Parts: sequence; structure tokens; C-alpha cells
Amino acid sequence: MRRGHPRSVILGTGSELPSKVMTNAALERLVDTTDEWITTRTGIKERRILEEGKSNADMAYRASVRALKDAGLEAKDVEAIIMGTVSPDYPFPSSACVLENMLGVRKAFSFDVNAACSGFLNALAVADSFIRTGMVRNALVIGSDALSRLLNWKDRSTCILFGDGAGAVVLGVSHDGAPGILSARLRTDGSYVKTLYVPAGGSLKPASLESVRKNEHTITMNGKEVFKVAVRSMEEISREALDEAGVEIDEVSLVIPHQANLRIITALAERLKVPCPK
Ligand SMILES: CC(C)(COP(=O)(O)OP(=O)(O)OC[C@H]1O[C@@H](n2cnc3c(N)ncnc32)[C@H](O)[C@@H]1OP(=O)(O)O)[C@@H](O)C(=O)NCCC(=O)NCCS
Repeated sequence: MRRGHPRSVILGTGSELPSKVMTNAALERLVDTTDEWITTRTGIKERRILEEGKSNADMAYRASVRALKDAGLEAKDVEAIIMGTVSPDYPFPSSACVLENMLGVRKAFSFDVNAACSGFLNALAVADSFIRTGMVRNALVIGSDALSRLLNWKDRSTCILFGDGAGAVVLGVSHDGAPGILSARLRTDGSYVKTLYVPAGGSLKPASLESVRKNEHTITMNGKEVFKVAVRSMEEISREALDEAGVEIDEVSLVIPHQANLRIITALAERLKVPCPK
């Protein structure tokens, strides 16, 4: 367990889901799939889709306003904004920067963390480090993605999985001895770059008529591989985080995994030997 540094605690939380719901039945009309296939393979019944004309930062804004209210913190007092996202409004500036302006924050620094599924956890760990080193006294941390904008709606292996939404927390210094964040473990394996990625739209393959025609600006995935790696690495990293915190799995009251799909979560629960849901 960490000693000798100020602790960071979650002071408030907020979330936002677009109102538009896309059910499995609606997907049956778009691609060759069935509600039964999607439900048994993923546990997903419906997903939320961001309205046309709205941006990722719009969702992040609503989640952030709620988190700030919950924390009792005014936007003007925010010192850092860190947003985990892979679907920013623009290649640059960051969506955190767009959000900073929407919130009317003027004295903070802001940036995005591009780490896909683990974007929020990476952003949270960065904010936690900033607080523990005394660089800032608080941070607004957001995980927000508009993945519907990166989907090929003709690819049944991906369009059934992803949706849109935002979650935000306000992190601050623990003043009353609250234990706060006990440990944070992060890991990346670069050998899986092309297991789940968007092939074009970056500097390697900028947008062209050909890239658009080939749908290369959309999510490309080897689902089986992602499944295996996700379950294995989530178990490993969970055990490391528990070890670092000096906490036994039996002492944990609630496990909140990344909710990509129910089969991954169930497999993780089996490996960690915790009931699902816990
Ligand atoms: C995507 C996933 C549900 C696919 O399940 P799977 O059991 O691996 O299925 P496969 O890809 O082997 O496909 C099996 C068959 O179903 C078909 N299929 C794929 N998507 C389908 C769909 N939406 N509806 C119906 N059939 C589908 C495939 O074409 C294949 O048919 P074939 O046997 O005739 O070739 C699964 O691999 C998974 O959950 N992976 C993790 C992905 C993930 O969570 N990504 C997000 C991380 S944030």
C-alpha cells in the first residue's frame, strides 16, 4: 500500500447516456444477425447512439456537470481535465480542451488519454499521480466515447458491440484520512496493435477517397483474439492491483470491470473466483 503521499479520493461522479436506443431488433434490420446470437455471445440487448450533430464532448460535458455538482466543486476551481477517449471531436485539440471551454474552466490544463477500453483507468491513474505528487489539488477525469461514429454498420462482427456514453469523476485530496485510491496498475501490449484498431485517418494513412471507400476509418477487430487477451490480462492486472493494495479478493465488495461484453465479465469472475455480479 502507498505511504507518505497525499491520497486522492473520488469526490463525485456523473454520467451521461444519449437518449437514442438501438435494440438488437433494430440491428437485425441492418445486418445478417439475430437478437439471440447477440444476446448469447455478448449479453448485450441494446446500446445508446449519440444524436446526429452532437459530439463526444457534449456527452462528456453533461457527465462532468453532474460529477462537479455531486462533488460540490465549481468548474472555475478545476485544476486538471483528463479525458480517456478514442473518438475525440477533432484529431486536435483534445476533447478535454473542448470540454474545458464548454465548462468555462480557465485555469486548468487539459489533455486526452488515448487508451481505448482502458482509457478511463489510465486517465484516473494519471490524475491520481498528479494529486499524490502535489501537482494539482483536484482533477476532473472523464471516460467518454462516441464509438458509433467509428463503426462500419455493414460489419456484423463489430457494429453489434459498441455504443456511446460518458462517465466522469472528480478526484481530490483526501483530508479526513479516507483511504481513497489504494493502488493502480496499468499494462499495455503493443504486439496486439492490429487486433482491434482503426486502420486509416491517422498520419500513416490519412483520409482519402480510397480509404473511405474501403471503410478503413471504422473499427476493425479480431474478436476471438480480443476475448482471450482481455480475460487473461484483466485477471493478471486485477491480481497485481490487489497485491499492491494488500487487499484480498474476498475483501472487495464490488468489482466494476470494463463492460465490453458479458461473456468477458463472466469469464473474469470465474478466474478471480468471485460471484458474478459482485
Ligand atoms: C465478437 C464475439 C462476440 C464473436 O463471438 P465468437 O464466438 O468469437 O464468434 P466468431 O467470430 O468465431 O464467429 C462465429 C460465427 O458467427 C458469425 N458472426 C459474427 N458476428 C455475427 C453476428 N453479429 N450475428 C450472427 N453471426 C455472426 C461469424 O461470421 C462466424 O460464422 P462462421 O462460423 O460461419 O464463420 C467474441 O469474439 C467476443 O466477444 N470478442 C471480444 C470482443 C470485444 O469485447 N471487443 C470489445 C473490446 S472493448
